[in-house]
Amino acid sequence: MNTSIPFISDRQVAQALDFRSVAAALGAAFASLAAGAAAVHARQRTDCRDLRLSTMGAVWAERGVAGVKVYPTVRGQFSFSILLFDVLTNQPLAVLDGNEITRLRTAAITALVASKAGPLRPRKLAVFGAGLQGRAQAEALCEWFDFEQVALVDPAGQSGWADTLAHRAGCPVAFTTPEAAVRGADLVVTATRSATPVFDGAWLAPGAFVAAMGISAPKGRELDDTTMDRAGRIILEWMPQSLAEAGEVVLWQGRTDSAPLVDLPQLYAGDAPWRAEGQGITVFKSVGIGLADVAVAHLAVSRILQCNTAAEGALP
Ligand SMILES: NC(=O)c1ccc[n+]([C@@H]2O[C@H](COP(=O)([O-])OP(=O)(O)OC[C@H]3O[C@@H](n4cnc5c(N)ncnc54)[C@H](O)[C@@H]3O)[C@@H](O)[C@H]2O)c1
Repeated sequence: MNTSIPFISDRQVAQALDFRSVAAALGAAFASLAAGAAAVHARQRTDCRDLRLSTMGAVWAERGVAGVKVYPTVRGQFSFSILLFDVLTNQPLAVLDGNEITRLRTAAITALVASKAGPLRPRKLAVFGAGLQGRAQAEALCEWFDFEQVALVDPAGQSGWADTLAHRAGCPVAFTTPEAAVRGADLVVTATRSATPVFDGAWLAPGAFVAAMGISAPKGRELDDTTMDRAGRIILEWMPQSLAEAGEVVLWQGRTDSAPLVDLPQLYAGDAPWRAEGQGITVFKSVGIGLADVAVAHLAVSRILQCNTAAEGALP
């Protein structure tokens, strides 16, 4: 019995991981899911008055780990923790702060899917929401792609951060109106707390890639019916959880049995090509699944605990 479970803080995660390594871990985990070597523990939510407790996790048999992310929602704010087990020894490996892991994996999955399913040379990025997730989305995408312009939409946006991003990305970054942001954008990301559509899908350029990362409850959505109707391809993370939680799909009036829905396990299995043919919009709707948290927690544990053990000279 392990009497002392190592704890890994958000700060340690931030120092050890980056968007690229996180995206690689996510790709490996989804490939395992496609091959039956991983399984997702879908989100469970329990509500009492205005409080909520949620859990989500995964077994990643190929890497010998299993884990769960648990978080209360209090006054709309999340507080994420992750418990990771080594299933070969059947012992807990670590308890991790989950806030930085959630931030990194949510941005990295957009970059990963956009690079596989989006336009080959995107020039203009539009991001709705410049909170924790929106800033991470913009930062990750600016690492992946050479944009000529980044348009931001957020009534509470901070110009100081936009200036820093412009310096890093080497292109103009500015707050603007929803229509000015979406018109001509190759990539559009929504990472707001809005439960109603944040732009008119008629403004989207042909062939645009739209990633909706915000609300993960079936009662709300950031994308409107026009966006969904125009989509030649709608990519979900994992069909069972996405169909239950993605308001974009659940509330979509025009949805039919022949809606062009595909999930990441299908794409990683090669059941469908990553890029849609023609000029249709590609939509990626993320609700966040526990496999992503377990994959990134595993990466963090591998890097941080191996580092610690090596530094202490106590490798077994
Ligand atoms: N898909 C996932 O895996 C995943 C993971 C974590 C968080 N989320 C979701 O991402 C969303 C954002 O989380 P956060 O932590 O960044 O929140 P946050 O409160 O830090 O930021 C949200 C920002 O959106 C802005 N905003 C609200 N309505 C807007 C609108 N119509 N247009 C433009 N901007 C608008 C707000 O001013 C705020 O700055 C939440 O809905 C959260 O549940 C998703």
